[in-house]
Amino acid sequence: MTTLGTPLSSHATKVMLLGSGELGKEVLIALQRLGVETIAVDRYDNAPGQQVAHHARTITMSDPAQLKALIEAERPHLVVPEIEAIATPMLEELEAAGTVRVIPTARAARLTMDREGIRVLAAETLGLPTSPYKFCNSLEELQAAIDAGIGYPCIVKPVMSSSGKGQSKIDGPADVKKAWDYAMAGGRVSHGRVIVEGFIDFDYEITQLTVRAVGADGQITTSFCDPIGHVQVSGDYVESWQPHPMHPAALEKSRQIAKAVTDNLGGQGLFGVELFVKGEKVWFSEVSPRPHDTGLVTLCTQHQSEFELHARAILGLPVDTSLRNPGASAVIYGGVEAQGIVFDGVEEALRVPGTDLRLFGKPESFVKRRMGVALARAENVDAARANAKLAASKVRPRVA
Ligand SMILES: Nc1ncnc2c1ncn2[C@@H]1O[C@H](COP(=O)(O)OP(=O)(O)O)[C@@H](O)[C@H]1O
Ligand SMILES: [Mg+2]
Repeated sequence: MTTLGTPLSSHATKVMLLGSGELGKEVLIALQRLGVETIAVDRYDNAPGQQVAHHARTITMSDPAQLKALIEAERPHLVVPEIEAIATPMLEELEAAGTVRVIPTARAARLTMDREGIRVLAAETLGLPTSPYKFCNSLEELQAAIDAGIGYPCIVKPVMSSSGKGQSKIDGPADVKKAWDYAMAGGRVSHGRVIVEGFIDFDYEITQLTVRAVGADGQITTSFCDPIGHVQVSGDYVESWQPHPMHPAALEKSRQIAKAVTDNLGGQGLFGVELFVKGEKVWFSEVSPRPHDTGLVTLCTQHQSEFELHARAILGLPVDTSLRNPGASAVIYGGVEAQGIVFDGVEEALRVPGTDLRLFGKPESFVKRRMGVALARAENVDAARANAKLAASKVRPRVA
């Protein structure tokens, strides 16, 4: 049974978000609506989620001592990781000691914090289909792995990175050194370790949002959202839509894979399972044990967005994953490097029928930083995609 408290009282239900970007911000808003007391943590001040939480804290989340001190001082009921770069072994320690519950579990946060833990679990422990892959610690090892079977084309990614950072495609021997150097410059923590994956020539890729929540019988039940299609440019999401039409056999396989991975990771919450599809063939790519960026589209397509689903699931409340209407999202990039930018054209964007907008409020803009997203609902996905892109194009960020 779930009992919720009153925020800022001695009976508050307290939730701490580790990472407070645009995805965390929406989770925090969903929690606020249920009267949960929220603590938004990030590595810099005035992060998007910190602007909508009861409390804002700025620490280095990859530093175990800082993380421990903060959790022990705040004593949240739940700790909800929003990013990967966290001292997850410390979360495991605190969870084992009974200090806090980590969402979905501290083990899931550790296994998904880099590409190695989750890939080895999915491919080797669970035997799920993935691209052929090899982990390499040097340019020589990378070349040897390609020559020994990965072949061309292939993709190199730093073991610790996200949003396509440091990731590149290798089409032939001439690209290998360039890809290695790029990975070394782009990794989040310069580990000097990469994964090289055989290139999958998929027809399309999807995100299968999967929720583990407490059902009416008190047991954890798995439910699925409609598949989300998306377009990635240099490993970063630029556009997504829901539902993505799928062959029933491919959908069935996608859900079997999603179930196998999320069963193993365990706990309660929403997961974003990334899959590649070609005809009826499906490959597991990766999983986020938390809301997924391509799932921003659910803000305009589902009765409960992925953020509301996550908030409900982690609190032990029932969830409804049903689609309300087709829709699409299109990313708005900063386009400029500056602090405190302004956005022109917002009214033109919102005049596009069926659209909505999220401007994340990030204090600093970079050319390729995601600063907002346009959302569009429509009769069908094609119309929604066109309108989302149109609305996004009307928003013009500029230096103030
Ligand atoms: N082995 C692969 N074959 C083909 N495309 C891939 C492969 N790996 C990644 N990609 C493309 O790059 C995107 C980003 O890769 P991903 O592993 O999801 O990295 P990130 O963690 O940065 O999201 C994928 O969504 C897909 O479009
Ligand atoms: Mg990805």
